[in-house]
Amino acid sequence: MSAPLFITADAQLHEELFRLAAAAGISPDHASDAASALRRWSSAPLVLLGADLAEEIAALGPVRRAGVHVVICGHPPDELFRTALAVGAENVAELPRSDTWVTEALTDLGETARPRGTMVGVIGGSGGAGATTFACALAQVAARRGPVVVVDADPLGPGVDRVLGLEDRDGIRWDALCQTTGRLSARSLREALPRREGLGVLTWHAGTQGPLPAFAVREAVSAAQRGHATVVVDLPRTVDPLVEEVCARCDLVLVVAVPSVVGLASAARLCGRFADRSALRLVVRGAGMDPRQVARVTGVPVLATMGQQRGLAEAIDLGLGPVRTRRGPLGRAAAEVLARLALTTAAA
Ligand SMILES: Nc1ncnc2c1ncn2[C@@H]1O[C@H](COP(=O)(O)OP(=O)(O)OP(=O)(O)O)[C@@H](O)[C@H]1O
Ligand SMILES: [Mg+2]
Repeated sequence: MSAPLFITADAQLHEELFRLAAAAGISPDHASDAASALRRWSSAPLVLLGADLAEEIAALGPVRRAGVHVVICGHPPDELFRTALAVGAENVAELPRSDTWVTEALTDLGETARPRGTMVGVIGGSGGAGATTFACALAQVAARRGPVVVVDADPLGPGVDRVLGLEDRDGIRWDALCQTTGRLSARSLREALPRREGLGVLTWHAGTQGPLPAFAVREAVSAAQRGHATVVVDLPRTVDPLVEEVCARCDLVLVVAVPSVVGLASAARLCGRFADRSALRLVVRGAGMDPRQVARVTGVPVLATMGQQRGLAEAIDLGLGPVRTRRGPLGRAAAEVLARLALTTAAA
C-alpha cells in the first residue's frame, strides 16, 4: 500500500496528525510545501490537506480526486469551506473533534491493504441438521489462530450469541447496523461487537429478529472481512437473493447434511439451488453412509464427517459454546475443515 499523504507546514497540525497516524499504526508521507505535495497528490490513497496550505494548493488547480480531506486544529473559518470545495475535498475535519474519524479513516486504509479474511458460509442441508452448531464450532476453533466473527444471518435461528455464551456481552447488534449508512470501519465493527477474546458475534437482540436489509449485510460482511482473519456466516435455508449474494462472496460454503434418505434428498435440493457449486462442500453429521455415496446423491464433495457430539446441550447451557474439547467430534471436524480451507486459500 502506498502511504497516505499529509500536507502541512503547521507544527501543531503536523504533530496532531502524526499522533493519529501512530494510533492507527500507519506511516504517512509528509509534504510541507505545495510543490512536493502536488507530486504525490494523485498517487496517495488518502490526502489530509492542512488548512495552512489549502489555499496555496487550491490556487495551483490540482486534479480532482477522491479521498481528499481538509484538516484544521480548532474552528474552521468560513473561507476554508470555499477552499475545500475548490480543491475537491470531501469535507473539513476539525481536530481534535474529528480525531476518531481521522484515526478510523487511517486504520481502514491499513486494513484495506491487508489480505481480507477468509469467509465460510454454513447452511443446513435440512432443518435442524446442525448448521448453526457447526458454524459456531468452526468459529471457536478458528479463534485460536486470529480474530473471528460469526455473522448470524438466520432470523429464525437461536442466536449465535446464545450458542456461544455471549448473549450477556455488551456490543452492537443488527439493529444498530441497520440504522447506520455509509462505509463501516473494520476496526470499529470489530471493537463494537460482543466478543470473548478473539471471537465476536453479529446477531440480533433476543426477540427482535427480522429480515435484514441488503445494504446492512453487504457493509457488515465487507467490514467483517477487512477486520477479521475468519468470517463465518450462519445462513438461513430460505431461497433469497441476499443469501445467494453472500454465498457468492464466500471462499467456502458448507452444507451440513444428515446421511438419511430424507436428509440427503433435502440437501440435494438445497445444493441444486446453486448455479455455481464450486465453493460448495458437505459436512456430514452422523455415520451410516459412505461419503462417496453421499457425494453422488448430492452432486457435492464431502469435506468432513462427524459423529454425534455428546454433552452438547450442557456445554451450550454453561456458556462454553459447542466445542468443549479439541478431541470431540465437532472440534475435530471443525479443525479438519479449517486445515483444508487454509490449503485451498494458500494455493489460490
Ligand atoms: N454435531 C452434533 N452432535 C450432536 N447434536 C448436534 C450436533 N449438531 C447439532 N446438534 C443438535 O441438533 C439440533 C439442531 O442443531 P442446529 O440448531 O445447529 O441445526 P440447524 O441446522 O442450524 O437448524 P435450523 O434448521 O433450525 O437452522 C440442536 O439441538 C443441536 O444441539
Ligand atoms: Mg440454524
